[in-house]
This record gives sequence, structure tokens and C-alpha cells, in this order.
Amino acid sequence: MNVINVDYDGMIPNNVGLNQDIRVRKALEKWHPGYLDWWQDMGPEGFQQSLVYLRTAVSVDPKGWAKFDYVQMPEYKWGILLAPQVEDRKVPFGSHRGEKAWQEVPGEYRAMLRRLIVIQGDTEPASVEQQRHLGKTAPSLYDMRNLFQVNVEEGRHLWAMVYLLHKYFGADGREEAEALLQRRSGDADTPRMLGAFNEATPDWLSFFMFTTFTDRDGKMQLEALAQSGFDPLSRTCRFMLTEEAHHMFVGETGVTRIVERTCQAMKDAGIDDPHDIEAVRKLGVIDLPTIQKKANLHFSLSLDLFGNEISTNAANAFHAGIKGRFREERIKDDHQLESGTYPVLRLIDGRIDKQDVPALSGLNMRLRDDYVADCNVGIGRWNRVIESFDIPFQIKLPHVAFHRHIGEFSTIKADVDGNILSDAEWEQRKGEFLPSDADRAFIESLMVPQYEVGRFAGWIAPPKVGIDNKPGDFEYVKIM
Ligand SMILES: [Fe+2]
Ligand SMILES: [Fe+2]
Repeated sequence: MNVINVDYDGMIPNNVGLNQDIRVRKALEKWHPGYLDWWQDMGPEGFQQSLVYLRTAVSVDPKGWAKFDYVQMPEYKWGILLAPQVEDRKVPFGSHRGEKAWQEVPGEYRAMLRRLIVIQGDTEPASVEQQRHLGKTAPSLYDMRNLFQVNVEEGRHLWAMVYLLHKYFGADGREEAEALLQRRSGDADTPRMLGAFNEATPDWLSFFMFTTFTDRDGKMQLEALAQSGFDPLSRTCRFMLTEEAHHMFVGETGVTRIVERTCQAMKDAGIDDPHDIEAVRKLGVIDLPTIQKKANLHFSLSLDLFGNEISTNAANAFHAGIKGRFREERIKDDHQLESGTYPVLRLIDGRIDKQDVPALSGLNMRLRDDYVADCNVGIGRWNRVIESFDIPFQIKLPHVAFHRHIGEFSTIKADVDGNILSDAEWEQRKGEFLPSDADRAFIESLMVPQYEVGRFAGWIAPPKVGIDNKPGDFEYVKIM
């Protein structure tokens, strides 16, 4: 069995020897039609017949794993791909540190593992559902193709988690796999499990912000699970991370191109004041303050995904060797955290203050801090574009206490600098920080599709290079 190359002979492409694993293969083949029904119902609306220039994984070798070709999305080769097994891998952290990594689920951690896999799995189809209407307003065929690439890969990520459920969790795993196809983003009765995955993604700025901030939460969660002592989970997440990188590329460069177009239009029109919103909007581009508000919204929703600042679940998962830290192997400590502390921002006597908590209890916070640092790298790229036009404006991440629904700060209102506001002040001022109905309506007014080959909507600049090095006039989607 060659684990680098993918077996495309059976119904389900895989590098896990599915042909020899009759029980799991049968279970997955039973799940497959329901998945395809879900994709038809909840996948990209209006483009299921179109030919999309997509990459498909043909190997899990980091160099050259993808092949590009025109594919109708329902025919996409969703498969089960695990990164190669690392020989003699050990549990890298927690109380089992140094023991042989587990190839089977340790009985005592079964429930915990299943819960983590289901939560991760639930986010994958959710984002496809959230983004299903966007094809109709795509600013170019290039962007449309990127959207669909993200969508089919989120579909594959669902397969990745469902494989683990079927392979390692028996009847209750199969039940959970079924339930993953039943929940719906934003549904009043059967919503997805996490808040940010029940929000609407009504326009392309939202999509780019979502892929910048929410997919980056995905990256951090996958990084933490890639450390897992449960080896199949680690290998699955390691391969998913190679796909996730493209999702963040789509988001970050998407916003960069919007910022660039806005700055260029301002310069051409001789507008120096980025806060002259009316004048900027007349140019048919999105003003920088509105871009800032969208960043505030998506960043704060994504912070909620890290859970409570002080968390027993996170402590238990680390102690068990199930979920580690971002780049665990690069951290210089005992990787057990039985002693030691971590500084956490908390609400103490009505004030926001740092407090040292036991390192194990502060693990969500630590992952979130790593996330914020990673976000700032992306924001720096946006600001360099603004700077290059000499426009006095900087996009900034809001304070972590701003607009929170989970954790320490969910009980207070704060502005983007972390000053606590009364409810009345918040009501009065929230329009300064978050998109208003008028902002949303303006953005929506720009969402007119541009399907002509090589052309772009007026509010976004073309990319610097094409996908798969294709030229600017390449037809990334043949709409049928
Ligand atoms: Fe994903
Ligand atoms: Fe993603």
C-alpha cells in the first residue's frame, strides 16, 4: 500500500487501504449518497453543472500533491487522505508524553475524542452552506473558482472527519456522521454547533473576511489536533492544513485586492480623506472604515470559537494527549504543564485585567493568543497596501473584549479599544464599530456578477498571478 499516492480505483479515493477494510468501506459507501444529496441541496447554488478549474489531491506529498482540471463539482473526487505515518511517533505532550502514539482510540478518552472530531466535522459543511449563494454575485470567474475550490475542500474535510467516525467509533460514530448531514447553518431547529457557523455570508467582503478570520481559527484548531497522540487524527489534520492554507490565501488576498482597488480609486479621484465615506462610495468602491467594521465583526465572531478563557475541557484534552498547542514541538517547556502559569485577560471587579492562571487551564487562551498574532501578520499586508498609497488609515484588530458572546467578556459591552461601555453607550455607538444596515446595503449594491473572462468587478483589483500560473484571460469557470 503506497500511502503517498492516492488510490482512485474504487468509489472513494483514499490512501488508507479502504479496499481491504470492508467494514469501513461499506459504511462509507452507505453514507456517500446522503453526502451527495446534501451537496446538491446545500452546495453552491446554480453552478452544479458548470465546469470548474479545480485542484484535486493525487498524493499527500507536500510537493506536487495537486492536479488541476475542469470538474463538475458533484463529480469532484472527495476522498480520504492522511499524511504519511511518522515512524515510531510518540505522544508529544500531556501525561502520556513519550509513550507510543495510539493507532486505536484509547478507551478512557473515547468520548472526548469523538466530541472534538464531531465539533471539527460540523464546521466543514457549515461553511459550504453559508457560502452557497455567493456564486451568483462573483466579481470574476477567478474569484468564483476560488470560492468553489474552498467549498469542495470543506466538503473533503467533512469526509476526513467522517472517516475517523466510521473507522474508530462504531455505531455511535455512524450516528454522528449521519447527524453531520442533518444540521444546517442558521437553521432555527437544527443549527450547526458553533455560533460563527450560523451567521450569514451575504456578500464577498464577508466571504473574504470569513476565510481570513474564521478559516484561520480552523487552522489553529487543526494545528492543535495535528499534535494529537491519537495518530490517525494527527495525520488527517496534517493533510487538511495543506488545504487550509489556500483558504486563508483566498481571504487575505481577497481583502488585499479590495483595499488596493479602493486606494487606487481614491488616488485617481484625488480623495485624501479616507473618512469621506460618501465621496469614496460614489466611486463604486468600499471605503476603508467599512472594511474595518467588517474586520471587527468577523474577528470578534471568530474569537468566540476558541471557547472560554479558563477551560477544564482544554486542560483535560491536553493532559490526555489528545489536543496540543500550536507548534507544540517548538515550545521549550516540559510539555506537561503540571506546574507553571499563563497570563489571561479577565474581567476582575468590573475591570479588564491580566491574571496568571494555571497553564493547563489557560490553554484556549494560549491558542487564541497565537491566533491573534497570526491574524496580525495578515492585517500587516493590508496596511502595507494602504501605506503605499500614502493614505492615512490603518486597519487594526479590535480588542479581544469587543463584541463577545462567549467567555469572560460576554457579559459586558466594550469598544474596539477595550473600554467598557454601558448598554446605552453601546447602543448609541455600535454603528461606529460594526457594519450598519446602511453599510450592508451599500456593499450589497456592489454585488453584481462579472462573468466575463478576464474581467473584474469595479470594487476589486485583479490578482497578481493566476491560479496554477494561468494567464489573466483564463476561463476558470465554464458556466453551464
Ligand atoms: Fe475545513
Ligand atoms: Fe477552510
